[in-house]
Amino acid sequence: MFEHLETPEQLFIFKLGSAMTMEKDSLHMLEDLESEAQRADLKTLFREHAGETRQQIANLEQCFSLLGQPVHESPSPTTKGLAKEGKATLRKTDAGLADVVVLSGALETEHYETAVYEGLITSADALGQPAVAQLLRQNLDQEMAAIVKIQEAAKLVAGQPKGD
Ligand SMILES: [Fe+2]
Repeated sequence: MFEHLETPEQLFIFKLGSAMTMEKDSLHMLEDLESEAQRADLKTLFREHAGETRQQIANLEQCFSLLGQPVHESPSPTTKGLAKEGKATLRKTDAGLADVVVLSGALETEHYETAVYEGLITSADALGQPAVAQLLRQNLDQEMAAIVKIQEAAKLVAGQPKGD
């Protein structure tokens, strides 16, 4: 989209595009996590967050629209790397420990997403875009709530690592 980022506005649009790529990758990852998870309650957790992620993608599309920009996807290799790491660990891990691996991958991803939204909100506020910042805060709040749910599930699973 931009050859070179010269203004805070261009940088913000570029980073918003990276968040769009991140959420689309995250949606694929959540679908994988749902199928890899052994426990039914974890499958539900991942399915519900996939639904939230679809809403987050819609919020990002609305951010572009509020800024008068076409929806744009910038490179975002981090989530792909986290997914790759999780899959590699799963391949070498006993099935009874799969949920521990799946939950740590999910937690790592959600913390990354949270950091991305914190940066975007700071920029949206600085650029005088309160409506955009509010949509991004909705996404951040959902990511933070997901972290709490994943941490609670991780504590339960860690106490009974052999599964159902
Ligand atoms: Fe998320």
